[in-house]
Amino acid sequence: MRLTVIGCGYVGLVTGACLAAAGHEVFCTDIDSKRIDQLKVGKVPIYEEHLEEVLNHAVAEKKISYTSDPGEAIRAGEVIFICVGTPPKNSGEADLSAIDHVARQIAQEAQASKIVVEKSTVPALTGKQLQKALAAYSRGGDMKFHVASNPEFLREGTAVGDFFHPDRIVVGVEDEVSAKKLREIYAPILQKKFSCPIHAGKCPDAPSELLITTINSAELIKHASNSFLALKISYANVIADLCERIGADVEEVTHAMGLDPRIGTQFLKAGLGFGGFCFPKDIQAFIHLSSSMGIDFEMLKAAETVNKQRIDRYFEKIHKALWVVKGKRVAVLGLAFKANTDDIRFAPALEVIRRLLAEGAEVHASDPEAISRTKAFFPNITYHEDPYEALKGADAALVCTEWKSFRELDWERAGKFMARRLVIDGRNLYSPQTMQKLDFDYHCFGRPQH
Ligand code: UGA
Repeated sequence: MRLTVIGCGYVGLVTGACLAAAGHEVFCTDIDSKRIDQLKVGKVPIYEEHLEEVLNHAVAEKKISYTSDPGEAIRAGEVIFICVGTPPKNSGEADLSAIDHVARQIAQEAQASKIVVEKSTVPALTGKQLQKALAAYSRGGDMKFHVASNPEFLREGTAVGDFFHPDRIVVGVEDEVSAKKLREIYAPILQKKFSCPIHAGKCPDAPSELLITTINSAELIKHASNSFLALKISYANVIADLCERIGADVEEVTHAMGLDPRIGTQFLKAGLGFGGFCFPKDIQAFIHLSSSMGIDFEMLKAAETVNKQRIDRYFEKIHKALWVVKGKRVAVLGLAFKANTDDIRFAPALEVIRRLLAEGAEVHASDPEAISRTKAFFPNITYHEDPYEALKGADAALVCTEWKSFRELDWERAGKFMARRLVIDGRNLYSPQTMQKLDFDYHCFGRPQH
């Protein structure tokens, strides 16, 4: 099928690339013409595992093309996926101006009926507004726009794998035509008829389910899911604080809790808390939406507060262990908001660095992927591709992102050239016993110090 993707960010590029790999003909466009120029010469503007490979393959097969002319892209596809940003306003409410802009473009540029699918994360009831905008700006005639909601549940870093092997595909529709078309679009994914870049013919057997719901439900499913995961993380973080007071081990507690399938082991990892461009903004948008409907979502507000306090807790540990920060050389390991991505939006590490600098520390940072993005925020700190270089002469190592390469660091080696054997681990990556054996003063979240 001929499909249009508007917005070539994380969601749009992964969606476009994977739908092309599933056999569709995909036309991508973005308001940022530089981004389109980059894509045309094979440069992928974001780091996402397997994405470059899938895109290159789709280009070679002539299944994907890029244009900075939105009209051309809109006319090319029979189904249009809107994948533009919905950043937070100061009030926490989602800024839907990009969706509104695209709706007007679609209505004005389309020359035939289209199915318009919202894939951007939007608050409930956006579909209704989208439908109104499309009708209001349309050139009339026999043209009809069907609106559908198809929220994405992709995690950055594993987005390509998540797209090809989803737990569920949610499709919110109000008409049969859209339901049929979206089933057709996702049929190759459900039937595992695509060349998987990850498993080389040995894809997991787990079946994926496609759920047809109303548009309102689909929109709500997205916010309700992200907010629940954020709640889980904040819950684990409060348990970690309690463990510290009581002398229990949060890893033992959450592991045992998670073995109950009603709870599950995932998203119970205590530490610096959640960042990224999804949870912090989605939770705010959901609180805002609920309040506009007369529902005070106190529970979510508490989860947000707990998350903001993680950095305060971290600094309590830093002050206790390092004492005076001013004039100290501090190695910050990890800048991205989580491992396997170069995304630093709302990354806890950025707030950690901001506070370290405010207290007069000399910051040496390392990250496998996020250094160049961070330079724009902090041009005056020192960056090292090699984490061992960052650790040279350091009075303390602060671990802010759970990269595998950091998990596997040789601390015996690092200890030999650090000024002081002090590790303050914001992601609970190491065993306190092992670190103690290596003669490190080791601090982490919710686990007894040995
Ligand atoms: C999240 C959701 O997991 C996706 O399903 C959703 O599609 C996406 O938002 C979105 O709305 O676009 P993502 O933001 O990529 O995905 O990252 P997650 O893997 O969910 O992690 C979010 C944050 O929580 C990270 O900062 C991570 O370090 C933190 N986290 C995660 C914890 O602190 N503890 C945990 O146990 C798990």
